Amino acid sequence: MPETQATHVASGKVRELYALDDERLLLVASDRISTFDVVIPTDIPDKGRVLTGLSGFWFARTRQIVPNHLLALRDDGRSTECRRLEMLPLECVVRGYITGSGWKDYLATGEVCGHVLPKGLTESERLPQPLFTPSTKAQTGHDENITRDQAAELIGDRFEEVERTALDLYRFAAAHSESRGIILADTKFELGLDADGALVLADEAFTPDSSRFWPADRYSPGRAQRSFDKQYVRDYCESVGWDKTYPGPELPEEVVAETRAKYIEAFERLTGISFDEYVADPEVVLR
Ligand SMILES: Nc1ncnc2c1ncn2[C@@H]1O[C@H](COP(=O)(O)OP(=O)(O)OP(=O)(O)O)[C@@H](O)[C@H]1O
Ligand SMILES: [Mg+2]
Repeated sequence: MPETQATHVASGKVRELYALDDERLLLVASDRISTFDVVIPTDIPDKGRVLTGLSGFWFARTRQIVPNHLLALRDDGRSTECRRLEMLPLECVVRGYITGSGWKDYLATGEVCGHVLPKGLTESERLPQPLFTPSTKAQTGHDENITRDQAAELIGDRFEEVERTALDLYRFAAAHSESRGIILADTKFELGLDADGALVLADEAFTPDSSRFWPADRYSPGRAQRSFDKQYVRDYCESVGWDKTYPGPELPEEVVAETRAKYIEAFERLTGISFDEYVADPEVVLR
């Protein structure tokens, strides 16, 4: 439980936000899982710890690219004390491979967020270079992909700095992941501004909720890939004929266990740290 003087300020689909004071927030990652922007009624035990630990791991390693909001991880392994920022009104998406909504857009138009792509790409193919493909931050419903011009309208003259930062973060995390046998197909993060107007990485970073991680030894373009993300839960939800509106379906025990195992495997492969070690001392990911 957060300390008593913390005031609850918001509930996201996955996180509870508390104000510690005017400058600091406590972000508590629950075990909730959302697919197709709907929170599923069944929790995945320890998922919030995996997200918090992985984000902390990346925050500790990307400071030379951009400062971030992390102040401390709490002993529960799921609570992050962070700097309270003014969040930019867009999702920073970077794609190294063509999949998901990017693949759908490409099939329909040959473009993704205004980037004209080579003809004849197959599903999950590696792009000639990583692309910044921002989307709106929908208050309700689904985020929508937008062009560079639309993004520049949302955030003004910081656009180029944001794009460069997003691409640098992706390249760093993709290279680290590759060294661990994992492809970082795409990822999404949120940037904010601090009181001095400096750009700061916030929210979560390079987790299975915000990224598509594919085991490199199974990679084979021309089809959808197996992944360490929510795809397994999405597939289950679609297999029961769910219409993707509230309420989502309950998950059977074996789907919960398999999903939990995938999140933990992603944590352990990416960090090289055992999950038990993290639970015993969350700060291990910051060293
Ligand atoms: N340092 C920060 N300062 C201010 N807000 C932050 C900071 N870090 C994260 N947030 C916000 O906290 C929320 C995290 O909650 P969560 O991830 O559960 O939300 P979500 O499901 O992604 O969607 P939504 O934001 O639409 O509720 C996000 O709205 C994010 O923008
Ligand atoms: Mg979120």
